[in-house]
Amino acid sequence: MKILIIGANGQIGTRLAHQLNDSEHDPVAMIRKEKQQEKFKKEGIPTVLADLEEDISHAFKDIEGVVFTAGSGADTPKSQTKVIDEEGAKKAIDEAIDAEVNRFVMVSALKANRDPKNWSDSMQHYYEAKSNADEYLRNSGLNYTVLMPGRLTNEEGTGRV
Ligand SMILES: NC(=O)c1ccc[n+]([C@@H]2O[C@H](COP(=O)([O-])OP(=O)(O)OC[C@H]3O[C@@H](n4cnc5c(N)ncnc54)[C@H](OP(=O)(O)O)[C@@H]3O)[C@@H](O)[C@H]2O)c1
Repeated sequence: MKILIIGANGQIGTRLAHQLNDSEHDPVAMIRKEKQQEKFKKEGIPTVLADLEEDISHAFKDIEGVVFTAGSGADTPKSQTKVIDEEGAKKAIDEAIDAEVNRFVMVSALKANRDPKNWSDSMQHYYEAKSNADEYLRNSGLNYTVLMPGRLTNEEGTGRV
């Protein structure tokens, strides 16, 4: 399956691109800067330049599956979380529908599906954006999986899920 990784230059995206490249699947790394191409090129992983704040439709050509693992990161203003983690995700879901992709995997976050009363003030904007994007995907009609990881350790995987 030809799989578009949105957020491929990130921590999860980079690992995923390499793992998919070693599998029967064909990853396409969606990145937003030309200089990010090098590390994928070295491994023979195709890239496509696209920014979630602009038109991304060209990235979906011949794509059969999508993994959304982009995020605004902790160092941007809170408003940027809505722009990327929610509105960017919704844009990707809409494009996936138009492109008739078979499967959409969302990298969400632990607690995103919990009662908002359990969200801390400092993280509320983050969980709200994740939750809204997840809900949009659940109602999209796409085949989907929503992953809800806690804080990742960046150590080698254990193979246990
Ligand atoms: N790491 C964790 O512990 C953890 C835990 C739970 C959930 N998550 C979620 O998992 C996802 C990935 O996490 P991560 O740690 O891999 O994040 P990351 O390293 O910060 O990667 C996020 C990626 O999103 C990309 N991005 C940001 N704005 C973009 C835009 N406008 N257009 C296109 N791409 C854009 C970034 O591109 P640049 O490289 O160009 O900046 C980056 O490659 C996030 O949604 C995060 O909330 C992570």
